[in-house]
Amino acid sequence: MTFDVETVDRIRATEPSAIVIFGASGDLTRRKLIPSLYLLHEDGLLPSNFKIIGVARSVMSDVEFIDSLEDGIVKYCRRVPASKALWDEFSEKVTYVTGGYDDADTYRTLGSMLGEAHGTGHTGGNCLFYLAIPPTLYETVIRELGESGLSGSQGAGWTRLIIEKPFGRNLKSAQALNELVHRYFGEDQIYRIDHYLGKETVQNILSFRFANSIFEPIWNRNFVDHVQISVLEQVGVGHRGGYYENAGVLRDMFQNHLLQLLSLTAMEPPVALNAKELRDEKVKVLQAIDPIQLRWSVGGQYTTYRENPGVDPNSRTPTYFAMRLFVNSWRWQGVPFYVRSGKNLTSKTSEIVLQFKQVPHLLFEDSDDMSSNTLSLCIQPDEGMHLQFETKIPGAGMRTEPVLMDFHYGDRFGKQALPDAYERLILDALKGDASLFSRSDEIVRAWELIDPLIQRWEGGEEAPVNFYEPGSWGPTEADELIAEHGHAWRLECGGHN
Ligand code: BG6
Repeated sequence: MTFDVETVDRIRATEPSAIVIFGASGDLTRRKLIPSLYLLHEDGLLPSNFKIIGVARSVMSDVEFIDSLEDGIVKYCRRVPASKALWDEFSEKVTYVTGGYDDADTYRTLGSMLGEAHGTGHTGGNCLFYLAIPPTLYETVIRELGESGLSGSQGAGWTRLIIEKPFGRNLKSAQALNELVHRYFGEDQIYRIDHYLGKETVQNILSFRFANSIFEPIWNRNFVDHVQISVLEQVGVGHRGGYYENAGVLRDMFQNHLLQLLSLTAMEPPVALNAKELRDEKVKVLQAIDPIQLRWSVGGQYTTYRENPGVDPNSRTPTYFAMRLFVNSWRWQGVPFYVRSGKNLTSKTSEIVLQFKQVPHLLFEDSDDMSSNTLSLCIQPDEGMHLQFETKIPGAGMRTEPVLMDFHYGDRFGKQALPDAYERLILDALKGDASLFSRSDEIVRAWELIDPLIQRWEGGEEAPVNFYEPGSWGPTEADELIAEHGHAWRLECGGHN
């Protein structure tokens, strides 16, 4: 989307800065980070003086590095670059350092490159480090940054650190990582990324709830029968078998994305839209969730998962989970939240659905089911809102049927309107706004909820792996779980049941 001059001035990052990407030769850099940074540059949202320094172990010259990035732009950019001249202007600011992550020389070289950037490059002593490396290397790089003196502020400037997910692989390791990173960086320097928070439609949960007066009064246990949060994926684990085998859907999706969606849906209105107030309210939701019961959960695995390279032929790793949980608060007491996510399912759908209660008194003899009122916030693929209600079928009698009132982002703002989550998040980090990043207590609480479930699942007692066919809706046991309370999963984004 192109912005007018006033908007650009209001939302752009104004402070010059150096951006250092560790893991610069990897997939994330080529697919997401550089395309996002480049589009920010095209939209005039990056500061006028910036430098990008890529660091990785692969031996490459600056030119080879830039060529590989250009290739990534052609393949992965969400829109066609506006002009070659803009790319050339952008790529002139990119350099590359070959070096081992545990080698003090790498950080010495980096230090002198940053000195040069802040001097002749006028990047103002500001530096954003981005850890786009495997989690096993976080500790090394954080420690080396700290020990080499690069974690502190450089003169008058700021230093910030973006850490990718997964943040730890259980409660203990997340706490240890928090401790380590706090040894060298203050909490206000740390930006733990969850790309779901960068999705436009996820942020829209906030505007939908708090910029309108008509939804909030019914957003509670008096009107809502239950809530469904689904992040269903059509893709399987593909070439990521090695990583996924050690993660599974609970670590990969629930501890972060699903709990973030749940927090935004269930939270109280913050008193202001800033990092502290917003995250305080989200943490309160996590604190109010009852321990998640294995007996109210269903774990599954698609039947061909064990054939993937890097996967144990007897693997118990869940590629699907569905659970019922409760948020013990004044607003949500007794309202079941059904949360599910899985891979290799029939379609890609991320959606939050509020199912409203049936009307208290049935007036219409020809219709005995008046439970159609649902509000669906579709996060992807067809981003939008859908309100379902009953309407009279024309003609004799008083028969009714459910119909939809729809809003689709694409229709209103154009198909290309939605920026990539990384564009928003990198821009926010450059501006020093941590609202859409996870705080240390939020991460810890999310692990406190998910870790015991993982341990019981991995322990194997009374928790069978429920197999499902690739391309299906997941294990039938998940349908039974929700049917226990007379409910049923929604079948498609914004669609009727
Ligand atoms: C990532 C997970 O965090 O999110 C992947 O590691 C998953 O396994 C992905 O596929 C889903 O993100 P999106 O944006 O495609 O819904």
